[in-house]
Amino acid sequence: MNCTRIQHLPKDLQAGKSDVSLVFLSSDCVSFRFLFLAYICLLSAEFLNPAYQALPGFLASTKYKSSPTDPADTAVQMAFESKGKDLIGILMERPDSARGFGTLMSTWGEGHSLIQDLYPVNERLPKGFDDSRDSVMFVDVGGGYGQKAIALKRACPQLPGRFIVQDLPGTVANAPKVEGIEMMGHDFFTEQPIKGASPLSIDALLQLKTYTGARAYYIRQCLHNWPTEKCLTILKHIHDAMKPGYSKLFVHELIVAERGASIWSTTQDFNMMTLCATMERTEGQWREMLGQANLKVVGVYPSKDGESEGIIEAEKA
Ligand SMILES: C[S@@+](CC[C@H](N)C(=O)[O-])C[C@H]1O[C@@H](n2cnc3c(N)ncnc32)[C@H](O)[C@@H]1O
Repeated sequence: MNCTRIQHLPKDLQAGKSDVSLVFLSSDCVSFRFLFLAYICLLSAEFLNPAYQALPGFLASTKYKSSPTDPADTAVQMAFESKGKDLIGILMERPDSARGFGTLMSTWGEGHSLIQDLYPVNERLPKGFDDSRDSVMFVDVGGGYGQKAIALKRACPQLPGRFIVQDLPGTVANAPKVEGIEMMGHDFFTEQPIKGASPLSIDALLQLKTYTGARAYYIRQCLHNWPTEKCLTILKHIHDAMKPGYSKLFVHELIVAERGASIWSTTQDFNMMTLCATMERTEGQWREMLGQANLKVVGVYPSKDGESEGIIEAEKA
């Protein structure tokens, strides 16, 4: 499996062309390439391989009856005798693996399609943007070290408004400081703080906050880490912060083909089952889940390479 992953490393990364200086202080791409591979190998040896070795035993223990759905009870817990802790909980007890995992995640999509490659950001998002003080253009929920927001801001410098990246406080603390990008500690299972100030609130009356909720909420490679019930909690908090007819939600995830799914999609599907008791989803499964969260899909923008993540655009139903 690890060979498959390495084969599937983005071509830019294999060629040492990625912009990773935000993650590693060294901007030497060749050393980055080796560091990245070293991280994968280390993680594989210390973390992923034990989880995969436990998978057959775990599935046998469930009598192969159904796919795992409890993120605190799948193969990785069996491997580390950590039943009751989810992946993040297990990683937090292993700081070296956690650091490696964070670095791997922050570089994972290097070379994959970005939102601005798939969606006409410049044409659609500024139109009708509430340009009053404090207005927020883009909130990257579970945005890691902010690479996607940084790349969007660089690619589309004319986009107005604030750009905010939210992640767990421990992740935000390690993120690079980049001008124009605000890092914010936020647990996505709790109320979304970037939402419109109620017209009767003190903030609104004193004109301390005038924003109306973000124009765009963006969530990439987070929902695929969680079973549907947990995803619905995350989506509900985003939904509640969205302004009807104004805010958009962009889900940037693998959209698995209904038939003949790629090796990459199916490998990732196994990874999600083994580590997080969940799965990669088809377009139909995304539509169904978003519908359950009272969000209607208004556009689907598949990845250009047919392999990496596509964009699903949704609005309040
Ligand atoms: C697979 S990474 C994706 C990161 C980023 N969106 C990207 O595409 O590069 C999943 C992210 O979810 C974050 N995360 C996990 N649990 C979270 C929570 N409860 N609240 C906010 N972020 C969380 C992790 O710290 C991690 O950065």
